[in-house]
Amino acid sequence: MDVAYDWNKLRPPSKLKDFEAKWSRRSEPLEFSGVWRFRELFPFANDSDILTIGEGQTLCQRSDYVAKYTGMNASRVFLQYEGMNPSGSFKDNGMTGAFAHARMVGARRAACASTGNTSASLSIYCAASDLRAIIFIGSGKISYGKLAQALDHGALTVQIAGDFDDALARVQQVSKQLGIYLVNSINPFRLEGQKTIMYRVLEAFNWEVPDWILVPGGNLGNSSAFGKAFIELMELGLINRCPRIAVINAAGADTFYQLYERQNLRWQGGRYEQTLVDSYMRGLDASNARADTIASAIEINRPVNLPKGLRTLERCGGVVREVTDQEILDAKAKIAAGGLGCEPASAASVAGLKKLRAEGIIGADERVACILTGHQLKDPTATVAYHSADPKMFEETLGKRGVRRANYANRAVQVPNDLDEIIKAIDVYA
Ligand code: F0G
Repeated sequence: MDVAYDWNKLRPPSKLKDFEAKWSRRSEPLEFSGVWRFRELFPFANDSDILTIGEGQTLCQRSDYVAKYTGMNASRVFLQYEGMNPSGSFKDNGMTGAFAHARMVGARRAACASTGNTSASLSIYCAASDLRAIIFIGSGKISYGKLAQALDHGALTVQIAGDFDDALARVQQVSKQLGIYLVNSINPFRLEGQKTIMYRVLEAFNWEVPDWILVPGGNLGNSSAFGKAFIELMELGLINRCPRIAVINAAGADTFYQLYERQNLRWQGGRYEQTLVDSYMRGLDASNARADTIASAIEINRPVNLPKGLRTLERCGGVVREVTDQEILDAKAKIAAGGLGCEPASAASVAGLKKLRAEGIIGADERVACILTGHQLKDPTATVAYHSADPKMFEETLGKRGVRRANYANRAVQVPNDLDEIIKAIDVYA
């Protein structure tokens, strides 16, 4: 399901630059919101139904450090840092959209299945309003940072014996049976809010369209929303070309990569080959294949937005790549050493840039925006294991997933509790 607008009856903006003026009215909460200040581009809600908690105040930061790491020229790489959202991930962009709709239909309870960030976001919006949050998580499949948020914000947390794909199937059944409002990205109003990530990228590029957007792919909500944003801006005559979009899967959860790049599945104006998808999924069932990656946020084998993701690729000249956990963690360490902290899934975008640059698909002088979807503190376990000098911790967390070396580890220095020894160590290392 898609949200469509009859632009003939609405008043879309005549130029994107006009949005800049909204900032001068930031004492009004809806103009302060980095999502709702663009609401003329997704005008489905009454202002009175909107709950904003300051989402979308995010940064698009130039990173020459990451440019160097990925083989790009200086001043060409920008990182769209969605970790700055109230719940620490891009999900708040969409959650505020879904929440507006939930209020429009008078929902009292809202549910999601989650690898952690959707549940954190839902929990925080529910805590700030009078809706009750119900979250479904797979067992042992959620990082502590995210679980902590759901528990702390008071969500009813249902841990089922299974993974995310199982939890998503169940939450859809349960929501239907109990009449609970579902906020997974299958909900089209979520995607309307997530379109604004692209408006903010355009704003950071002074309303010029960059050459590439790189985004991690899990359930493909972002990939779908970004494509829709650009398709609509084209239709409205507000931009004259779409950027190319690269969706980056983790190698341990690479359904989209397999279907698009290996099996040639294409959108074909909506007539995509469903039989190809069905047979791929049956294959997963038959071999009992489970997604497995350190990037737990994108540990998903059955993306619900697969068709819309295909639409994005067709309309935006897209590509899909997969990156290993080794590549993800090395990229994450480099992003952090350059000054922005993200969780493993987010670093897939930068690892994907490095790969596409090495393949010559992205030119060194093209302008790119990598989306950093979630905050570094969401998943401290992966980070500490990477930097740790403790081989047991490394092996248990990363080694078993094929990570061989922490190429950019920053190890803690062990020193005796002795002033001279401490001073000596500092002289050696800094
Ligand atoms: N990055 C992060 C940090 C995420 O949490 C997710 C998805 C993605 C990327 C993938 O985005 O689904 O739009 O392709 N997390 C979901 C969750 C599944 O439950 O929090 P997508």
